[in-house]
Amino acid sequence: MPYATEENLTDLALKQWEACHSPRLRQIMQSLVKHLHGFARDVDLKQDEWLMAVDWLARTGKLSSEKRQEFILLSDVLGISMLVDAMNHRFPEGATPSTVIGPFHIDDSPELPMGANVAEGLAGEPCFLVGSVRDMDGKPIEGAKLDIWQADADGLYESQLGAEEPTLRAVFHTGADGKYVIRTIAPPGYSIPMDGTVGDLLRGTDISHFRPAHIHFFISAPGYETLITHLFKKGAKYIDSDVVFGVKDKLIVEFKKQPAGKTPTGQISSEPFLVVTYDFVLSKSAAQKNGELALSEAGGASRGKL
Ligand SMILES: [Fe+2]
Repeated sequence: MPYATEENLTDLALKQWEACHSPRLRQIMQSLVKHLHGFARDVDLKQDEWLMAVDWLARTGKLSSEKRQEFILLSDVLGISMLVDAMNHRFPEGATPSTVIGPFHIDDSPELPMGANVAEGLAGEPCFLVGSVRDMDGKPIEGAKLDIWQADADGLYESQLGAEEPTLRAVFHTGADGKYVIRTIAPPGYSIPMDGTVGDLLRGTDISHFRPAHIHFFISAPGYETLITHLFKKGAKYIDSDVVFGVKDKLIVEFKKQPAGKTPTGQISSEPFLVVTYDFVLSKSAAQKNGELALSEAGGASRGKL
C-alpha cells in the first residue's frame, strides 16, 4: 500500500474498506468515507474544528441513554430521520403516512384496557382519542397494538420529568371492531430539549426549536406494515415550522372542543373536553403481499390445469 498523501488518502481509505466481510456494510462504509472526506475537503476543515466536533459527538453520546436519545434528536433536526423514514415507508395512497419516532419513545409501556386514562392524576385539558385501526379495504384490524406517548401540559415528556412511574405513555390493543378510545390530556407545542449538545448547536442559529402540538403513535399488527406516526393539532402554533420536519397534511386533525357532559368513554365530565377522531389505515406488509401473490399465482396455475 502506498503511504498516505493529501491527494491519495480518500482512495486509500476506500480501498481499506474493500476488506469488509459484509457487502452491505462495505457499501455503506465506503460511501460514508467518500462523503466524509468530500465534506472535510469541501469546507477545508481545520484541526480545532475537527477536535471540537469529536468532543461534541462524545458529549452527545454521554448524554444519550434509554430515556434520552440525543443522537436521535440530532438526526431529527438535520432532517435525516424524516429522509430515512420517507425512503423506507412509501406506503400506498390511502394508508396513514408515517413520521419520525422522535427521541422520547420508551419501550415496554404498561398495557392498559381500552378507554383507560393515560394521564391519571395529571393536570391538563381532558382529551379523548377515538377511532379505529383499519386495513386498506376499510376492514377493522383486530389485535392491533397502539403504543402511544406524549408530552404533559407543560410540554415535557417522562424522561424530562424524571418520573419514576410510566407517564403519559401506554399500550392498547384493539378488539374485533378495530376501535380504540383513550383518555388523555391535550398536549401543547414544545421546545425540543435545549439543555444538551443539540441545543448548543441550535443556539447559534435563528432556527425555531419548537414542535407543534401532537401525540405519538406506534401501531403494529401481524401481517401489516408497522406505522410510527403522530397526530398534529389543526391550527397549532409551529405547525408550519416543525424543527424536525415531521408534519404531513394527512396527520393534521381537529381537536374538537365539546361541552361538559357525556364523554366517549361513557363518563360524565363536569368540564369541557376535546375529542380527536382518527382512523389509522395500515397497508399489508411486503411479506404478506408476497404470500398472497404466491397463493393467487398458485391458484391461477391450478385453475389453468383444469
Ligand atoms: Fe413529541
